[in-house]
Amino acid sequence: MILKPNLRGQVLPMPVVLISTVSKEGIRNAAPWGCIMPILRPLDEIAIASWLKRDTLENIRDTGEFVVNVPTMDMKEAVDICAKSFPPETDEFEEAGLLPHPSAKVKPPGIAGCVAWMECELAEEILREKYSLIVGRVVHLEGNDDFFDEKGGMDFERARPMSMIVGPDGVCYTHPARGGL
Ligand SMILES: Cc1cc2nc3c(=O)[nH]c(=O)nc-3n(C[C@H](O)[C@H](O)[C@H](O)COP(=O)(O)O)c2cc1C
Repeated sequence: MILKPNLRGQVLPMPVVLISTVSKEGIRNAAPWGCIMPILRPLDEIAIASWLKRDTLENIRDTGEFVVNVPTMDMKEAVDICAKSFPPETDEFEEAGLLPHPSAKVKPPGIAGCVAWMECELAEEILREKYSLIVGRVVHLEGNDDFFDEKGGMDFERARPMSMIVGPDGVCYTHPARGGL
């Protein structure tokens, strides 16, 4: 079957993360993000794609810092609230009932209860006509002790990190399961 090119999000499942930032006035922001990828194993950079009209993008430009929080499937309601368009002066942690998880190296707090927290510094912005690609350097990575063993292995079937498949009828949330023959 030939598919429309914009259905690529169905054949390439994506993670769902919550990006937390603070504005230059110190207001906390959180927004769901799907277009995120690690840049080449085992380097420590990631890239996120952003539409130009995003408080998240403004905050990253202004402060040079952000946290990539990996929510569990149980956090879907908070993800939906953070997807709404709030004015920049709204504290989105308060709106979504999110509690902060202290960050070690950057100012924006992480989000409590997540599977993992990736603290990032802005390395480069690649600005295009309609969107921007942000390259971030991971300066601190922490996994939630509830889901990780001593070797740093994640029990992902228990953690259920949010992921998504975007099909013709919209977003379907999913999570990784163990494969194998
Ligand atoms: C599951 C999901 C994934 C999303 N992924 C992206 C993305 O990759 N890039 C983007 O610019 N917006 C994305 N959005 C939209 C933003 O989360 C949404 O516009 C949000 O209100 C932006 O908040 P902000 O203005 O506080 O940054 C996504 C929304 C959802 C629900």
